[in-house]
Amino acid sequence: MTPVGPLFQANGVTKRFGGFTAVSGVDLTLGTGESVGVIGPNGAGKSTLLGLIVGSLRADAGTLELEGRDMSRLSLPDRVQGGIARAAQIPQTFARLTVRENLRLPAVFGARLHGAEASDWVDEVLTLTGLTDHAGAVAGELGLLSRKRLELAKAVAARPRLLLLDEIAAGLTQHEIETMIGLVKSLRSDRAIVWVEHIPFALRETCERLVVLDKGEKILDGAFATVWEDERLQSVYMGVADHAAA
Ligand SMILES: Nc1ncnc2c1ncn2[C@@H]1O[C@H](COP(=O)(O)OP(=O)(O)OP(=O)(O)O)[C@@H](O)[C@H]1O
Ligand SMILES: [Mg+2]
Repeated sequence: MTPVGPLFQANGVTKRFGGFTAVSGVDLTLGTGESVGVIGPNGAGKSTLLGLIVGSLRADAGTLELEGRDMSRLSLPDRVQGGIARAAQIPQTFARLTVRENLRLPAVFGARLHGAEASDWVDEVLTLTGLTDHAGAVAGELGLLSRKRLELAKAVAARPRLLLLDEIAAGLTQHEIETMIGLVKSLRSDRAIVWVEHIPFALRETCERLVVLDKGEKILDGAFATVWEDERLQSVYMGVADHAAA
């Protein structure tokens, strides 16, 4: 039997800003349908790692493969077309376009749909992400929950095989976070998800695996409960508390 390779594989991914190494030799392997939570203190390199995977940032070293295809040297648009999309920590919507128009762009340029096919898919994404009632609203005038939903919806509209989520629940109320958790659960199945979030229960509800980044390095990666109880995780956050108290 031919062994089935992982859906996604990153090896030795590294990013330096001047003399500062923000992401240092990170390896990450994901299978189809796998959801992985990523935590780590502010500045640990989480957003930088997602930027390196989607191609908004250029890696100084390392390789990335999706479904066996080398993505390392592709531009961001080519990576999105190739099956990687990210909901960014700072929403990157076109403020003057409507929600529907914002979603049509990734449907056309990411998922490569045209005409009625693109419109139908946008309608489906609106439903999936609870944005149908806001379809005609101007993106810049949305409230926080809808803005977060739209950032997620834009990534989903590109039909990625690997969906990267960067703090899509940050700043939301408990009830709104639960809505986002339900949404993320509904997006699983045949894709892989990497969810960066500072809200542990959101990750626990959606991810069977947990990765911990600290100072640019991946220090833990394993079953959620095992990593959660690892004393190295506690010490990473204790270090932050000590530092903050000092
Ligand atoms: N464009 C940049 N130029 C210089 N330094 C940067 C740049 N982007 C990020 N950094 C630095 O790299 C480090 C990692 O940043 P990153 O945004 O990846 O952290 P993070 O883990 O996502 O943090 P947070 O939880 O606050 O979102 C930080 O020290 C940050 O200041
Ligand atoms: Mg970040």
